[in-house]
Amino acid sequence: MIYAANFKMNQTRQSTREYLMKLQLHHHKRKLGDRVIVFPSITAIDNYDVDFTIGVQNAYPDIKGAFTGEIGLEQLEEFDIKTILIGHSERREILNESQEFISRKFNFFKEQGFEIIYCIGEPLNVREEGESAVLDYLISQFDGIDLDYSKLIVAYEPVWAIGTGRSASIEEITNIHNRLKERIDRPILYGGSVKPSNIADIASIPSVDGVLVGSASLKVDSFLDILLH
Ligand code: 13P
Repeated sequence: MIYAANFKMNQTRQSTREYLMKLQLHHHKRKLGDRVIVFPSITAIDNYDVDFTIGVQNAYPDIKGAFTGEIGLEQLEEFDIKTILIGHSERREILNESQEFISRKFNFFKEQGFEIIYCIGEPLNVREEGESAVLDYLISQFDGIDLDYSKLIVAYEPVWAIGTGRSASIEEITNIHNRLKERIDRPILYGGSVKPSNIADIASIPSVDGVLVGSASLKVDSFLDILLH
């Protein structure tokens, strides 16, 4: 299982350091083969002395240049960052990232050999149309994405389950992951209101290879409860 923490626009540099140091002390109690990835905010990126993966929540698809407010490859290399989240619904919806731009970003970081956690997920109105509409929607989010890329990890995050406290049901997760597994031979994480109280059930689904956790990852004890459940 992969246990990934997405801090989003939370935590300072100071609180991130304290968090990572505590996680470093305890994460070795995880089950053999389990893996931890943390995505802090960009101001908290540093060369941390930890033996789990630190990734970034976003970057611009270029080495450097005139892209005001963005972070490029050269700046990630300074901190040995080789893992990136791409396609998160908050970037698609709030920051208006198009599928065309997302696939350009994917291809740039693929060419640089990055591990890519690629997020897909349907909004509530699509979910209400039924499962085959959901699947069509998710598949459209793979436009321009190389599903055979060896460092690709997919994260299925239904938008209506993100930050709402209401996770998708075990049956809903199972059905979508099984259908995705028919097309993709890569790990698939589930995200959307994963918390200490539901991790055991979610982790027991055979087609779930890990979780991407937002709110419940913000306190290190809560993330440790999920990791060490
Ligand atoms: P929550 O765990 O807060 O629902 O967020 C999930 C998420 O978007 C992780 O990327």
